Amino acid sequence: MIQFDRVVKRFGERVVLKGLSFTIREGEILFVLGTSGTGKSVLLKNIVGLLRPDEGDIWVDGQEVSRLAEESYFPVRKKCGMVFQHPALFDSFTVFENVAFGLRRHYGMGEGEIRARVRECLELVNLVGVERKMPAEISYGMQKRVSLARTVAIEPRILLFDEPTTGLDPVTTNAVNRLILDLSRQLKTTSIVVSHDMHCALAIADRIMVLDQGQIVAQGAPRDLMRSEHPLVRDFLAETLEGES
Ligand SMILES: Nc1ncnc2c1ncn2[C@@H]1O[C@H](COP(=O)(O)OP(=O)(O)OP(=O)(O)O)[C@@H](O)[C@H]1O
Ligand SMILES: [Mg+2]
Repeated sequence: MIQFDRVVKRFGERVVLKGLSFTIREGEILFVLGTSGTGKSVLLKNIVGLLRPDEGDIWVDGQEVSRLAEESYFPVRKKCGMVFQHPALFDSFTVFENVAFGLRRHYGMGEGEIRARVRECLELVNLVGVERKMPAEISYGMQKRVSLARTVAIEPRILLFDEPTTGLDPVTTNAVNRLILDLSRQLKTTSIVVSHDMHCALAIADRIMVLDQGQIVAQGAPRDLMRSEHPLVRDFLAETLEGES
């Protein structure tokens, strides 16, 4: 479903992605872990064409996209829902209108159908009774969940999550992880989840990829990663196991 082939991304002199190659199959959940500033958000933005690689190929659903013209990228973006690290809501729209936005724009649904779908998606992220509020009136964590609801509402085949649970309480974190897992199992949604949360990764990932300074330093199924000798992976694991004892 997604393939990177020796992808390089530079900003001026600084090489952020240093020749990344990996493949994700349909329906798979890939967790990308790595320290701050290592290129995780840049990786996701290269898939949706917000950034373009300097070298290498990126395949999305059988199509090479890295050199597509801006107007040809539109169908690719329609397949990919991206939940940004910081919630990017429309400030002058209510919560309801924010979630309904994509449904109105692309799907030509009736008003009753839209209302039901918005409610359903807000329930999925543990949000009820806030439809009429403005983004500024709700907390950061709630805004983050609204942006999640907005993205999953349109049921994209590929979901890209940039730290979806950072800053959320444990109950909502579990609900969000459950949601990612259910989408993958029921709709065969392919997901990339950028996260610092090794605990979640071990629980729901099919595969985990650890990035360090723009390179893949470890990847594999959760149980393989548990055996990794790489110091960064050991650090992530140590944090997780410490939290549980
Ligand atoms: N548009 C841009 N222009 C210039 N440099 C950028 C741009 N976007 C990202 N960078 C640089 O690329 C590097 C990787 O950034 P990125 O946002 O991908 O990190 P990250 O792994 O997502 O970190 P975090 O965990 O803190 O979100 C950083 O050094 C950042 O300053
Ligand atoms: Mg980031």
